[in-house]
Amino acid sequence: MPDSPPIDAGDVAPAVADLDTIVSLSKRRGFIFPSSEIYGGINAVWDYGPLGVELKNNVKRAWWRSMIQERTDIVGLDAGILMHPEVWVTSGHVASFSDPLVECASCHRRYRLDELPGTEGLSATELREDGVVERLKLVCPNDGGRLSAPRRFNLMFKTHMGPVEEDAAIVYLRPETAQGSYVNFKNVLASSRKKLPFGIAQIGKSFRNEISPGNFVFRMREFEQMEMQYFVHPGDAARVAFNEWLPMRRAWYERYGVAPGRLRLREHAPDELAPYAKKAVDVEYRFPFGWKELEGVHNRGDFDLGNHAQASGANLEYFDPATDEHFIPWIVETAAGADRAAFTFLIDAYREEQVRGETRVVLGLHPELAPYKVAVLPLLKKRREIVELCQQLRADLARDVLAVYDDTAAIGKLYRRQDEIGTPWCVTVDVESLEDRAVTIRDRDTMTQERIPVEGVRQAIADRLAAARA
Ligand code: GAP
Repeated sequence: MPDSPPIDAGDVAPAVADLDTIVSLSKRRGFIFPSSEIYGGINAVWDYGPLGVELKNNVKRAWWRSMIQERTDIVGLDAGILMHPEVWVTSGHVASFSDPLVECASCHRRYRLDELPGTEGLSATELREDGVVERLKLVCPNDGGRLSAPRRFNLMFKTHMGPVEEDAAIVYLRPETAQGSYVNFKNVLASSRKKLPFGIAQIGKSFRNEISPGNFVFRMREFEQMEMQYFVHPGDAARVAFNEWLPMRRAWYERYGVAPGRLRLREHAPDELAPYAKKAVDVEYRFPFGWKELEGVHNRGDFDLGNHAQASGANLEYFDPATDEHFIPWIVETAAGADRAAFTFLIDAYREEQVRGETRVVLGLHPELAPYKVAVLPLLKKRREIVELCQQLRADLARDVLAVYDDTAAIGKLYRRQDEIGTPWCVTVDVESLEDRAVTIRDRDTMTQERIPVEGVRQAIADRLAAARA
Protein backbone atom coordinates (compact mmCIF):
# COMPACT_ATOMS: atom_id res chain seq x y z
CA MET A 1 0.00 0.00 0.00
CA PRO A 2 2.14 2.92 -1.21
CA ASP A 3 1.98 6.19 0.65
CA SER A 4 1.58 9.60 -0.91
CA PRO A 5 3.78 10.98 -3.69
CA PRO A 6 6.85 13.04 -2.77
CA ILE A 7 6.45 16.58 -1.57
CA ASP A 8 6.19 19.08 -4.39
CA ALA A 9 7.95 22.39 -4.65
CA GLY A 10 4.96 24.49 -3.58
CA ASP A 11 4.77 22.60 -0.32
CA VAL A 12 3.73 24.23 2.96
CA ALA A 13 6.00 24.14 5.99
CA PRO A 14 5.18 21.65 8.73
CA ALA A 15 4.12 22.95 12.16
CA VAL A 16 7.43 21.70 13.58
CA ALA A 17 10.56 21.29 11.50
CA ASP A 18 11.84 18.35 13.45
CA LEU A 19 9.90 15.39 14.82
CA ASP A 20 12.36 15.13 17.74
CA THR A 21 10.78 18.24 19.26
CA ILE A 22 7.49 16.36 19.64
CA VAL A 23 9.09 13.05 20.64
CA SER A 24 11.06 14.71 23.42
CA LEU A 25 8.10 16.81 24.65
CA SER A 26 5.96 13.66 24.68
CA LYS A 27 8.46 11.77 26.81
CA ARG A 28 9.32 14.65 29.14
CA ARG A 29 5.75 15.69 29.88
CA GLY A 30 4.15 12.24 29.91
CA PHE A 31 2.25 12.05 26.63
CA ILE A 32 3.88 9.03 24.96
CA PHE A 33 6.55 6.55 26.07
CA PRO A 34 8.26 3.68 24.23
CA SER A 35 6.62 0.40 25.20
CA SER A 36 8.56 -1.91 27.58
CA GLU A 37 11.35 0.65 27.71
CA ILE A 38 13.16 -0.91 30.69
CA TYR A 39 13.69 -4.01 28.52
CA GLY A 40 15.02 -1.96 25.61
CA GLY A 41 11.62 -1.30 24.06
CA ILE A 42 9.62 -3.17 21.44
CA ASN A 43 9.57 -1.81 17.93
CA ALA A 44 6.48 0.15 16.85
CA VAL A 45 4.50 -0.13 20.06
CA TRP A 46 4.03 2.99 22.18
CA ASP A 47 2.41 3.61 25.55
CA TYR A 48 0.33 6.65 26.38
CA GLY A 49 1.34 8.39 29.62
CA PRO A 50 -0.86 10.34 32.03
CA LEU A 51 -1.34 13.27 29.61
CA GLY A 52 -1.33 11.19 26.44
CA VAL A 53 -4.17 8.98 27.56
CA GLU A 54 -6.25 12.10 28.28
CA LEU A 55 -5.44 13.57 24.86
CA LYS A 56 -6.26 10.35 23.03
CA ASN A 57 -9.47 9.81 25.02
CA ASN A 58 -10.49 13.37 24.15
CA VAL A 59 -9.78 12.75 20.45
CA LYS A 60 -11.91 9.61 20.54
CA ARG A 61 -14.67 11.46 22.41
CA ALA A 62 -14.61 14.27 19.82
CA TRP A 63 -14.93 11.72 17.00
CA TRP A 64 -17.73 9.87 18.79
CA ARG A 65 -19.50 13.18 19.40
CA SER A 66 -19.40 14.07 15.70
CA MET A 67 -20.45 10.58 14.57
CA ILE A 68 -22.98 9.51 17.18
CA GLN A 69 -24.02 12.34 19.47
CA GLU A 70 -24.56 15.02 16.83
CA ARG A 71 -26.32 12.76 14.32
CA THR A 72 -29.39 10.58 14.28
CA ASP A 73 -28.34 8.22 11.50
CA ILE A 74 -25.26 6.53 13.01
CA VAL A 75 -25.07 4.02 15.86
CA GLY A 76 -22.09 2.63 17.75
CA LEU A 77 -20.61 -0.85 17.98
CA ASP A 78 -17.72 -2.50 19.81
CA ALA A 79 -16.92 -5.79 18.09
CA GLY A 80 -14.25 -8.29 19.17
CA ILE A 81 -10.65 -8.06 18.09
CA LEU A 82 -10.68 -11.81 17.40
CA MET A 83 -13.14 -12.91 14.74
CA HIS A 84 -13.98 -16.09 12.88
CA PRO A 85 -10.95 -16.73 10.60
CA GLU A 86 -13.22 -17.04 7.55
CA VAL A 87 -14.00 -13.32 7.92
CA TRP A 88 -10.45 -12.53 6.82
CA VAL A 89 -10.56 -14.99 3.94
CA THR A 90 -13.78 -13.43 2.64
CA SER A 91 -12.57 -9.85 3.16
CA GLY A 92 -9.51 -10.60 1.01
CA HIS A 93 -7.03 -9.98 3.83
CA VAL A 94 -5.63 -13.53 3.88
CA ALA A 95 -4.91 -13.43 0.15
CA SER A 96 -3.86 -9.87 -0.39
CA PHE A 97 -3.38 -7.71 2.71
CA SER A 98 0.31 -7.49 2.03
CA ASP A 99 3.15 -5.12 1.25
CA PRO A 100 6.14 -5.75 -1.06
CA LEU A 101 9.13 -6.82 1.05
CA VAL A 102 12.77 -6.90 -0.03
CA GLU A 103 15.67 -8.30 1.98
CA CYS A 104 19.36 -7.43 1.95
CA ALA A 105 21.56 -10.45 1.11
CA SER A 106 24.38 -9.29 3.42
CA CYS A 107 22.85 -7.58 6.51
CA HIS A 108 19.43 -9.29 6.17
CA ARG A 109 17.54 -6.10 6.93
CA ARG A 110 14.07 -6.02 5.47
CA TYR A 111 12.41 -3.07 3.78
CA ARG A 112 9.11 -2.16 2.24
CA LEU A 113 9.93 -1.76 -1.43
CA ASP A 114 7.96 1.44 -1.90
CA GLU A 115 9.79 3.09 1.01
CA LEU A 116 13.28 2.62 -0.41
CA PRO A 117 15.12 5.69 -1.70
CA GLY A 118 14.76 5.64 -5.47
CA THR A 119 11.16 4.43 -5.58
CA GLU A 120 9.58 7.84 -5.02
CA GLY A 121 6.87 8.64 -7.50
CA LEU A 122 6.58 5.09 -8.88
CA SER A 123 3.05 3.93 -9.61
CA ALA A 124 1.57 0.86 -7.93
CA THR A 125 1.87 -1.00 -11.27
CA GLU A 126 5.56 -0.14 -11.60
CA LEU A 127 6.17 -1.32 -8.04
CA ARG A 128 4.66 -4.69 -8.92
CA GLU A 129 6.88 -5.22 -11.98
CA ASP A 130 9.24 -8.20 -11.93
CA GLY A 131 12.82 -7.01 -11.93
CA VAL A 132 12.01 -3.58 -10.48
CA VAL A 133 14.92 -3.88 -8.02
CA GLU A 134 17.47 -4.51 -10.82
CA ARG A 135 15.94 -1.99 -13.19
CA LEU A 136 16.17 0.80 -10.61
CA LYS A 137 19.51 -0.50 -9.29
CA LEU A 138 18.14 -0.45 -5.74
CA VAL A 139 20.57 -1.39 -2.98
CA CYS A 140 20.34 -1.78 0.79
CA PRO A 141 20.28 1.71 2.42
CA ASN A 142 22.19 0.26 5.38
CA ASP A 143 25.24 -1.36 3.77
CA GLY A 144 24.74 -1.08 0.01
CA GLY A 145 24.14 -4.86 -0.19
CA ARG A 146 22.20 -6.69 -2.90
CA LEU A 147 18.44 -6.69 -2.42
CA SER A 148 16.18 -9.67 -3.09
CA ALA A 149 13.30 -9.55 -5.56
CA PRO A 150 10.17 -8.28 -3.79
CA ARG A 151 7.82 -10.80 -2.24
CA ARG A 152 4.39 -10.16 -0.76
CA PHE A 153 4.43 -10.05 3.03
CA ASN A 154 1.06 -10.48 4.78
CA LEU A 155 0.56 -7.89 7.50
CA MET A 156 -1.85 -9.82 9.70
CA PHE A 157 -0.74 -11.07 13.10
CA LYS A 158 -1.66 -14.71 13.69
CA THR A 159 -2.29 -16.45 16.97
CA HIS A 160 -3.97 -19.63 18.15
CA MET A 161 -7.32 -19.93 19.84
CA GLY A 162 -7.67 -22.53 22.60
CA PRO A 163 -5.06 -24.83 24.10
CA VAL A 164 -3.86 -26.48 20.87
CA GLU A 165 -1.37 -24.71 18.63
CA GLU A 166 -2.37 -26.25 15.32
CA ASP A 167 -3.29 -24.73 11.98
CA ALA A 168 -6.98 -25.39 12.53
CA ALA A 169 -6.85 -23.12 15.60
CA ILE A 170 -5.33 -20.10 13.83
CA VAL A 171 -7.06 -16.79 14.40
CA TYR A 172 -5.96 -13.29 13.45
CA LEU A 173 -5.70 -10.08 15.41
CA ARG A 174 -7.95 -7.82 13.37
CA PRO A 175 -6.10 -5.45 11.04
CA GLU A 176 -9.15 -3.13 10.82
CA THR A 177 -12.37 -2.61 12.78
CA ALA A 178 -14.51 -2.41 9.64
CA GLN A 179 -15.20 -6.16 9.32
CA GLY A 180 -16.88 -6.21 12.76
CA SER A 181 -19.44 -3.73 11.42
CA TYR A 182 -20.12 -5.78 8.28
CA VAL A 183 -20.70 -9.08 10.06
CA ASN A 184 -23.02 -7.30 12.53
CA PHE A 185 -24.97 -5.48 9.81
CA LYS A 186 -28.13 -7.54 10.27
CA ASN A 187 -27.94 -7.48 14.09
CA VAL A 188 -27.63 -3.71 14.15
CA LEU A 189 -30.30 -3.21 11.49
CA ALA A 190 -32.82 -5.40 13.32
CA SER A 191 -32.14 -4.02 16.79
CA SER A 192 -31.83 -0.31 15.91
CA ARG A 193 -34.62 -0.27 13.27
CA LYS A 194 -32.57 2.14 11.18
CA LYS A 195 -33.44 2.84 7.57
CA LEU A 196 -30.94 3.48 4.79
CA PRO A 197 -28.85 5.53 4.76
CA PHE A 198 -27.40 4.76 8.17
CA GLY A 199 -23.99 4.15 9.68
CA ILE A 200 -22.17 1.98 12.19
CA ALA A 201 -19.25 3.59 14.02
CA GLN A 202 -16.51 1.83 15.92
CA ILE A 203 -13.39 2.75 17.84
CA GLY A 204 -10.95 0.00 18.70
CA LYS A 205 -7.53 -1.57 18.50
CA SER A 206 -6.19 -2.96 15.26
CA PHE A 207 -2.92 -4.74 14.58
CA ARG A 208 -0.63 -4.83 11.55
CA ASN A 209 2.77 -6.44 11.33
CA GLU A 210 4.14 -3.46 9.41
CA ILE A 211 7.42 -4.06 7.56
CA SER A 212 8.71 -0.58 8.18
CA PRO A 213 6.90 1.05 11.05
CA GLY A 214 8.19 4.34 12.29
CA ASN A 215 7.99 8.08 12.54
CA PHE A 216 6.98 7.77 16.19
CA VAL A 217 3.29 6.86 16.48
CA PHE A 218 2.56 7.48 12.79
CA ARG A 219 2.91 3.84 11.83
CA MET A 220 2.65 1.31 14.63
CA ARG A 221 2.03 -2.40 14.88
CA GLU A 222 -0.69 -1.96 17.50
CA PHE A 223 -2.90 1.07 17.05
CA GLU A 224 -6.45 2.32 17.37
CA GLN A 225 -8.87 3.05 14.57
CA MET A 226 -12.01 5.17 14.42
CA GLU A 227 -14.01 3.80 11.50
CA MET A 228 -17.53 4.47 10.30
CA GLN A 229 -19.37 2.37 7.73
CA TYR A 230 -22.26 4.20 6.04
CA PHE A 231 -24.78 1.91 4.34
CA VAL A 232 -26.60 3.39 1.36
CA HIS A 233 -28.71 2.39 -1.63
CA PRO A 234 -26.61 0.92 -4.46
CA GLY A 235 -25.14 3.15 -7.14
CA ASP A 236 -25.46 6.89 -7.20
CA ALA A 237 -26.41 7.23 -3.53
CA ALA A 238 -22.90 6.03 -2.68
CA ARG A 239 -21.34 8.71 -4.90
CA VAL A 240 -23.49 11.36 -3.21
CA ALA A 241 -22.67 10.09 0.30
CA PHE A 242 -18.96 9.94 -0.57
CA ASN A 243 -19.02 13.55 -1.73
CA GLU A 244 -20.71 14.58 1.52
CA TRP A 245 -18.43 12.62 3.84
CA LEU A 246 -15.11 13.68 2.35
CA PRO A 247 -15.38 17.41 3.14
CA MET A 248 -17.00 16.62 6.50
CA ARG A 249 -14.05 14.49 7.52
CA ARG A 250 -11.54 17.12 6.47
CA ALA A 251 -13.55 19.76 8.34
CA TRP A 252 -13.46 17.65 11.51
CA TYR A 253 -9.69 18.13 11.78
CA GLU A 254 -10.07 21.85 11.16
CA ARG A 255 -12.83 22.08 13.77
CA TYR A 256 -10.34 20.80 16.34
CA GLY A 257 -7.64 23.23 15.33
CA VAL A 258 -5.56 21.75 12.50
CA ALA A 259 -4.39 24.51 10.14
CA PRO A 260 -6.37 24.16 6.88
CA GLY A 261 -3.20 24.74 4.83
CA ARG A 262 -1.59 21.65 6.29
CA LEU A 263 -4.44 19.43 5.11
CA ARG A 264 -5.03 18.27 1.56
CA LEU A 265 -6.94 15.58 -0.29
CA ARG A 266 -5.31 12.94 -2.49
CA GLU A 267 -7.25 10.54 -4.68
CA HIS A 268 -5.86 7.02 -5.14
CA ALA A 269 -4.83 6.15 -8.69
CA PRO A 270 -6.80 3.25 -10.23
CA ASP A 271 -3.85 0.83 -9.88
CA GLU A 272 -3.41 1.81 -6.23
CA LEU A 273 -6.98 1.11 -5.10
CA ALA A 274 -7.52 -1.64 -2.52
CA PRO A 275 -9.55 -4.57 -3.95
CA TYR A 276 -12.67 -3.41 -2.09
CA ALA A 277 -12.57 0.21 -3.24
CA LYS A 278 -14.34 1.77 -6.19
CA LYS A 279 -12.93 5.12 -5.16
CA ALA A 280 -10.62 6.24 -2.35
CA VAL A 281 -9.50 9.68 -1.28
CA ASP A 282 -7.08 10.29 1.58
CA VAL A 283 -7.18 13.29 3.86
CA GLU A 284 -3.46 14.01 4.15
CA TYR A 285 -1.55 16.10 6.67
CA ARG A 286 1.79 17.82 6.22
CA PHE A 287 3.81 15.92 8.82
CA PRO A 288 7.44 16.95 9.46
CA PHE A 289 8.37 13.91 7.30
CA GLY A 290 6.13 14.82 4.36
CA TRP A 291 2.49 14.66 3.25
CA LYS A 292 1.00 11.45 4.63
CA GLU A 293 -2.39 9.83 5.03
CA LEU A 294 -4.39 10.88 8.04
CA GLU A 295 -7.65 9.24 7.11
CA GLY A 296 -9.18 7.46 4.12
CA VAL A 297 -12.67 7.85 2.69
CA HIS A 298 -13.69 4.87 0.55
CA ASN A 299 -16.59 3.91 -1.67
CA ARG A 300 -16.59 0.14 -1.08
CA GLY A 301 -19.62 -0.64 -3.24
CA ASP A 302 -21.25 -3.98 -2.34
CA PHE A 303 -17.89 -5.73 -2.00
CA ASP A 304 -18.14 -6.40 1.73
CA LEU A 305 -21.76 -7.32 2.35
CA GLY A 306 -21.93 -9.12 -1.01
CA ASN A 307 -18.89 -11.31 -0.25
CA HIS A 308 -19.89 -12.01 3.35
CA ALA A 309 -23.41 -12.97 2.25
CA GLN A 310 -22.03 -15.37 -0.34
CA ALA A 311 -19.38 -16.93 1.92
CA SER A 312 -21.48 -17.28 5.06
CA GLY A 313 -24.81 -18.06 3.43
CA ALA A 314 -26.44 -15.36 5.56
CA ASN A 315 -28.98 -13.09 3.96
CA LEU A 316 -27.44 -9.62 4.21
CA GLU A 317 -29.97 -7.93 1.97
CA TYR A 318 -31.90 -4.86 2.95
CA PHE A 319 -35.60 -4.65 2.24
CA ASP A 320 -36.87 -1.25 1.16
CA PRO A 321 -40.64 -1.10 1.79
CA ALA A 322 -40.95 2.09 -0.25
CA THR A 323 -39.87 0.34 -3.47
CA ASP A 324 -40.59 -3.24 -2.40
CA GLU A 325 -37.00 -4.16 -3.31
CA HIS A 326 -34.39 -6.42 -1.70
CA PHE A 327 -30.75 -5.53 -2.31
CA ILE A 328 -27.23 -5.55 -0.86
CA PRO A 329 -26.45 -2.02 0.38
CA TRP A 330 -23.29 -0.23 -0.72
CA ILE A 331 -20.87 1.16 1.82
CA VAL A 332 -19.06 4.46 2.15
CA GLU A 333 -16.36 4.17 4.78
CA THR A 334 -14.50 6.84 6.72
CA ALA A 335 -11.37 5.23 8.20
CA ALA A 336 -9.31 7.25 10.65
CA GLY A 337 -6.62 6.42 13.19
CA ALA A 338 -6.98 7.61 16.79
CA ASP A 339 -3.22 7.63 17.31
CA ARG A 340 -2.53 9.36 14.02
CA ALA A 341 -5.20 11.97 14.75
CA ALA A 342 -3.87 12.59 18.29
CA PHE A 343 -0.34 12.84 16.87
CA THR A 344 -1.51 15.35 14.27
CA PHE A 345 -3.30 17.52 16.83
CA LEU A 346 -0.17 17.43 18.99
CA ILE A 347 2.16 18.46 16.17
CA ASP A 348 -0.15 21.10 14.76
CA ALA A 349 -0.73 22.69 18.18
CA TYR A 350 2.98 23.14 18.91
CA ARG A 351 4.41 26.64 18.75
CA GLU A 352 7.28 28.61 20.22
CA GLU A 353 6.88 32.32 20.99
CA GLN A 354 9.19 35.02 22.23
CA VAL A 355 7.83 36.64 25.37
CA ARG A 356 9.94 39.27 27.09
CA GLY A 357 13.14 37.78 25.76
CA GLU A 358 12.22 34.21 26.68
CA THR A 359 10.93 31.33 24.59
CA ARG A 360 7.43 30.28 25.54
CA VAL A 361 6.43 26.81 24.33
CA VAL A 362 2.69 26.52 23.84
CA LEU A 363 0.55 23.57 22.87
CA GLY A 364 -2.38 25.46 21.44
CA LEU A 365 -4.65 22.40 21.66
CA HIS A 366 -8.36 22.91 21.19
CA PRO A 367 -9.81 23.11 24.75
CA GLU A 368 -11.84 19.97 24.17
CA LEU A 369 -8.70 18.02 23.33
CA ALA A 370 -6.46 19.49 26.03
CA PRO A 371 -5.58 16.90 28.73
CA TYR A 372 -6.28 19.31 31.61
CA LYS A 373 -8.94 21.94 31.07
CA VAL A 374 -7.81 24.04 34.01
CA ALA A 375 -4.93 24.30 36.48
CA VAL A 376 -5.48 25.82 39.91
CA LEU A 377 -2.33 27.52 41.19
CA PRO A 378 -1.46 29.23 44.48
CA LEU A 379 0.55 32.42 44.37
CA LEU A 380 1.91 31.67 47.84
CA LYS A 381 1.96 28.05 48.84
CA LYS A 382 3.13 28.93 52.33
CA ARG A 383 -0.28 30.42 53.16
CA ARG A 384 -2.46 27.51 54.28
CA GLU A 385 -5.71 29.41 53.51
CA ILE A 386 -4.59 29.98 49.91
CA VAL A 387 -3.77 26.30 49.42
CA GLU A 388 -7.11 25.32 51.00
CA LEU A 389 -9.03 27.62 48.69
CA CYS A 390 -7.14 26.17 45.71
CA GLN A 391 -8.02 22.63 46.78
CA GLN A 392 -11.70 23.55 47.17
CA LEU A 393 -11.74 25.20 43.76
CA ARG A 394 -10.06 22.21 42.11
CA ALA A 395 -12.53 19.79 43.67
CA ASP A 396 -15.43 21.99 42.55
CA LEU A 397 -14.09 22.20 38.98
CA ALA A 398 -13.43 18.45 38.94
CA ARG A 399 -17.17 17.84 39.02
CA ASP A 400 -17.21 18.92 35.34
CA VAL A 401 -13.70 18.71 33.95
CA LEU A 402 -10.20 17.40 34.58
CA ALA A 403 -8.58 20.05 36.80
CA VAL A 404 -5.11 19.90 38.33
CA TYR A 405 -3.47 21.61 41.31
CA ASP A 406 0.23 22.46 41.17
CA ASP A 407 2.41 24.31 43.67
CA THR A 408 5.83 22.91 42.82
CA ALA A 409 7.33 26.13 41.41
CA ALA A 410 6.95 29.90 41.25
CA ILE A 411 3.88 31.15 39.40
CA GLY A 412 5.71 32.15 36.19
CA LYS A 413 7.15 28.67 35.85
CA LEU A 414 3.81 27.06 36.66
CA TYR A 415 2.17 29.03 33.84
CA ARG A 416 4.90 27.95 31.40
CA ARG A 417 4.45 24.30 32.37
CA GLN A 418 0.73 24.47 31.76
CA ASP A 419 1.28 26.29 28.44
CA GLU A 420 3.61 23.50 27.33
CA ILE A 421 0.99 20.80 27.95
CA GLY A 422 -1.86 22.80 26.46
CA THR A 423 -3.94 23.67 29.54
CA PRO A 424 -6.27 26.40 28.23
CA TRP A 425 -6.92 28.14 31.55
CA CYS A 426 -5.09 28.70 34.83
CA VAL A 427 -6.87 29.93 37.94
CA THR A 428 -4.61 31.70 40.41
CA VAL A 429 -5.41 32.27 44.06
CA ASP A 430 -3.48 35.08 45.74
CA VAL A 431 -3.43 36.87 49.10
CA GLU A 432 -6.16 39.27 48.01
CA SER A 433 -8.42 36.35 47.16
CA LEU A 434 -8.73 35.71 50.89
CA GLU A 435 -10.14 39.23 51.31
CA ASP A 436 -12.21 39.80 48.17
CA ARG A 437 -13.13 36.15 47.38
CA ALA A 438 -11.98 36.72 43.78
CA VAL A 439 -9.39 34.86 41.69
CA THR A 440 -7.61 35.39 38.40
CA ILE A 441 -8.32 33.36 35.26
CA ARG A 442 -5.44 33.39 32.79
CA ASP A 443 -5.92 32.46 29.16
CA ARG A 444 -3.22 30.23 27.62
CA ASP A 445 -3.27 31.80 24.15
CA THR A 446 -3.64 35.52 24.91
CA MET A 447 -2.06 35.40 28.39
CA THR A 448 -4.71 37.91 29.44
CA GLN A 449 -5.99 37.72 32.99
CA GLU A 450 -9.46 38.37 34.34
CA ARG A 451 -10.51 38.69 37.95
CA ILE A 452 -13.74 36.92 38.84
CA PRO A 453 -15.54 35.85 42.04
CA VAL A 454 -14.58 32.42 43.39
CA GLU A 455 -18.21 31.30 43.14
CA GLY A 456 -18.23 32.06 39.40
CA VAL A 457 -15.15 30.02 38.41
CA ARG A 458 -16.91 26.77 37.60
CA GLN A 459 -19.44 28.54 35.39
CA ALA A 460 -16.75 30.67 33.75
CA ILE A 461 -14.80 27.56 32.72
CA ALA A 462 -18.00 25.84 31.53
CA ASP A 463 -18.87 28.94 29.44
CA ARG A 464 -15.42 29.10 27.89
CA LEU A 465 -15.54 25.41 27.02
CA ALA A 466 -19.01 25.76 25.51
CA ALA A 467 -17.79 28.73 23.43
CA ALA A 468 -14.80 26.71 22.16
CA ARG A 469 -17.09 23.79 21.31
CA ALA A 470 -19.48 26.03 19.40
N1 GAP B 1 -10.93 -0.13 6.91
C1 GAP B 1 -10.09 0.55 6.02
C2 GAP B 1 -8.75 0.76 6.55
O1 GAP B 1 -8.35 0.16 7.53
P1 GAP B 1 -6.52 2.06 6.15
O2 GAP B 1 -6.23 3.24 5.27
O3 GAP B 1 -5.66 0.87 5.99
O4 GAP B 1 -8.05 1.72 5.89
C3 GAP B 1 -7.31 3.57 8.12
O5 GAP B 1 -6.48 2.53 7.67
C4 GAP B 1 -6.55 4.50 9.05
O6 GAP B 1 -6.01 3.76 10.15
C5 GAP B 1 -5.34 5.21 8.44
O7 GAP B 1 -5.73 6.36 7.72
C6 GAP B 1 -4.53 5.56 9.66
O8 GAP B 1 -5.03 6.74 10.28
C7 GAP B 1 -4.80 4.38 10.58
N2 GAP B 1 -3.70 3.40 10.46
C8 GAP B 1 -3.57 2.43 9.55
N3 GAP B 1 -2.43 1.73 9.75
C9 GAP B 1 -1.84 2.28 10.84
C10 GAP B 1 -0.64 2.01 11.57
N4 GAP B 1 0.16 1.01 11.24
N5 GAP B 1 -0.34 2.79 12.64
C11 GAP B 1 -1.15 3.81 13.01
N6 GAP B 1 -2.30 4.10 12.36
C12 GAP B 1 -2.65 3.36 11.29
